[in-house]
Amino acid sequence: MTTYFPTQVVLEVTSRCNLACKGCAIHGADSFTTRKTGDMQEEDWRAAIKEIGSWDRGLNLTAHGGGEPLLHPNFKEILKLSKSFPKLNTGFLTNGMLFNKEWAEFVVDIELNWIGFSIDGVLPQTHKIVRKGSNLELIEKHLLDLLFIKEHAKKDKPTVTLNMVAYDEVYDQKEQFVQKWLNKVDNITISHYRNPPSSRRAALVPEKREPCFLLWSQMVIASDGRVGLCCEDFNIDFELGKIGKKPLIEIWNGSEISKLRKMHEDREFTSHPMCRDCDTWSDNIIQKTEENRNLGFKMLHRASQTEYKPL
Ligand SMILES: C[S@@+](CC[C@H](N)C(=O)[O-])C[C@H]1O[C@@H](n2cnc3c(N)ncnc32)[C@H](O)[C@@H]1O
Ligand code: SF4
Repeated sequence: MTTYFPTQVVLEVTSRCNLACKGCAIHGADSFTTRKTGDMQEEDWRAAIKEIGSWDRGLNLTAHGGGEPLLHPNFKEILKLSKSFPKLNTGFLTNGMLFNKEWAEFVVDIELNWIGFSIDGVLPQTHKIVRKGSNLELIEKHLLDLLFIKEHAKKDKPTVTLNMVAYDEVYDQKEQFVQKWLNKVDNITISHYRNPPSSRRAALVPEKREPCFLLWSQMVIASDGRVGLCCEDFNIDFELGKIGKKPLIEIWNGSEISKLRKMHEDREFTSHPMCRDCDTWSDNIIQKTEENRNLGFKMLHRASQTEYKPL
């Protein structure tokens, strides 16, 4: 029998946050989640990292979930432990508010593999509307400090990515955002705004539905140690198991997820309440590429987001 391994583990080190962004499933005004927010317990993050780090294959360790990872009091220790396993490609997304120079020096020093800043547009006045509680000037200063420290240290890690959510309030700032940062960072994505709780976002979804790649690739571990179905299971309504009760590899090859994989292989996509109303299944496919010669970038369009690269 085949043993499956995920290629990405999302470790939600905390589900708490210092902002209340408009569309955030957990902290936004239209939040629909009811699970308790908190920090992951030490025994849980240690057990998870040690187990996945000892598998005989590499994977991406994404150290954020539905919260702001810098709020975890032991986040530096978590990253150091993960970096001690060479097969783990470790990184996280941050809202950048707490990412001061000390943090920048730390991630450059440990050669964190990647880091992403979530910044929605170029104007402070709209930024603080869609990312409630934020200060764009401070976040941009933190990002520029990181880029400076990394260059000064002559390091190529961490790779730095930016993710902007194209809310209506900032939609017309997309090109200015890309032009402002394209030659400074390694990668830029602009995500379609999806209106919680729906995960449907885009017109760019193929007509013919295919089994969802996430069921074979992405393991999500929530801050309370429960393993959710995938990144769309914001409230962990479909628990597959819990750290500490069973090895993660057993959970990933257990009866619950196996049933779902079989359901998808049999093309019964509507039998599951979450899969029924989802378009993330097509997110591994680039639907369209375009070039903007005037502004000097190309665009790779997926269902949930567009990636911008210099020409
Ligand atoms: C939930 S946050 C967690 C990490 C961190 N707190 C941050 O903001 O980067 C992960 C990403 O989801 C994005 N996001 C939040 N609500 C969204 C929505 N309704 N549609 C699309 N992306 C969204 C955020 O902007 C961020 O880039
Ligand atoms: S900073 Fe991230 S986790 Fe916090 S409210 Fe915004 S999107 Fe949600």
